[in-house]
Amino acid sequence: ISTRKLHAGIITASDKGSKGEREDESGPAIRSIIEKQGYEVVSQVVLSDDAEGLYREMVRLADEEDVDVVFTTGGTGFSPRDNTPEATMRAATRNAPGIAEAMRYYSLQITPRAMLSRAASVIRNRTLIVNLPGSPKAVKECLEAVLDTLAHGIRILR
Ligand code: MTE
Repeated sequence: ISTRKLHAGIITASDKGSKGEREDESGPAIRSIIEKQGYEVVSQVVLSDDAEGLYREMVRLADEEDVDVVFTTGGTGFSPRDNTPEATMRAATRNAPGIAEAMRYYSLQITPRAMLSRAASVIRNRTLIVNLPGSPKAVKECLEAVLDTLAHGIRILR
């Protein structure tokens, strides 16, 4: 674990993206940033905003793929179809709120709208799950805030 590449799964939550009505730019943005940091992306999907499907994919990534970390993008806002934090909390065995707090703290210095992200960060057994907001810009900013410290947390988790 101390030397091998960290394994990551990526989930884009987007009704339009899942129907092919909108190109997913945020999933690829996560992928490119974390690959540069040495992560291996073992799974990347675009799903609708349905909570059940998001929950199942998080459970699959944690329990079957045994990934070190799951990054989600989208569905953290206030719209009625924003279900990602609820799906994430349902998958949780332990809370890890500091990561979401750090992202909001950092992001608030960029835009007050950062307070509108309900992003959660949790642990499911040995897998860390981190919600990111839906735009490629927000993805970059939020990863910038936490990525250096995440690897340390993930290694402790394993
Ligand atoms: N965080 C950062 N760093 N940069 C941003 O541009 N956008 C905010 C917020 N967090 C933003 C951000 C906005 S406008 C919203 S509505 C919420 O994230 C939720 O976004 P989501 O519904 O796409 O997940």
